[in-house]
Amino acid sequence: MIALKSDQEINAMRVAGKLAAETLIMIGKHIKPGISTLELNDIVHDFTVSRGAICAPLNYRGFPKSICTSVNEVICHGIPNAKHILKDGDIINVDVTPIVDGFHGDASVTFFVGSNISATARKLVKITEECLNLAIATVRVGSRIGDIGHAIQEHAHKNGFTVVRDFVGHGIGRVFHEDPQVPHYGEPGKGLRLEPGMTFTIEPMINSGDFRSKVLKDKWTAVTLDNSLSAQFEHTLAIRSDGIVEILTR
Ligand code: MF3
Ligand code: CO
Ligand code: CO
Repeated sequence: MIALKSDQEINAMRVAGKLAAETLIMIGKHIKPGISTLELNDIVHDFTVSRGAICAPLNYRGFPKSICTSVNEVICHGIPNAKHILKDGDIINVDVTPIVDGFHGDASVTFFVGSNISATARKLVKITEECLNLAIATVRVGSRIGDIGHAIQEHAHKNGFTVVRDFVGHGIGRVFHEDPQVPHYGEPGKGLRLEPGMTFTIEPMINSGDFRSKVLKDKWTAVTLDNSLSAQFEHTLAIRSDGIVEILTR
């Protein structure tokens, strides 16, 4: 069942979305060789609390930290750790989800660490961001969930990359993950028809090698099966009652 949101609820989600975007801009300035993923976690946690908000990931289904930090071959749900020190040439996705007045704003960015970034990593990150933007461009009243996934899959495959299938975008609001599921692959013109009041994420995870994933023994960290690189970008979107599509986390 899809919970359609009123414009008033979308206004509340805009506040959470804006904080998510500000948080990512803020944390981007701290990403350098030598910093640990736990330090990044703690900076985001303190920043979020200072804004009167809550970090949704903390204790969510047992997740132990306030953000996800997914480095190199980690696809998503990487757990911040004091022993994990970033090094020159890494890529890191930081995924933040503040809750403001009961509403979630979910967004992520893949950052470069230092300046020694391989050509493959540079291309992967660029194409992944383009996949998200191409997917967003399909969203309008009457378009289909399959249009979103198709746009992502086309662009990724055209550039020699693969699309993760084991994790999807999701409806979002007062609940972190709700209907509908938003796959990052699909057929144009197929699937759920989009309508005003829908609020959902699009968060493509694109691999440089095999599309398959496996989850580590910590029960959270998802990595590529072949240890190839993976990148991700995420935005939270809303379709307003006037039909305008708004990127709440821009
Ligand atoms: N923010 C992630 C998403 O985009 C979910 C993280 S769940 C957590 O849906 F428990 F790992 F934090
Ligand atoms: Co997220
Ligand atoms: Co999400």
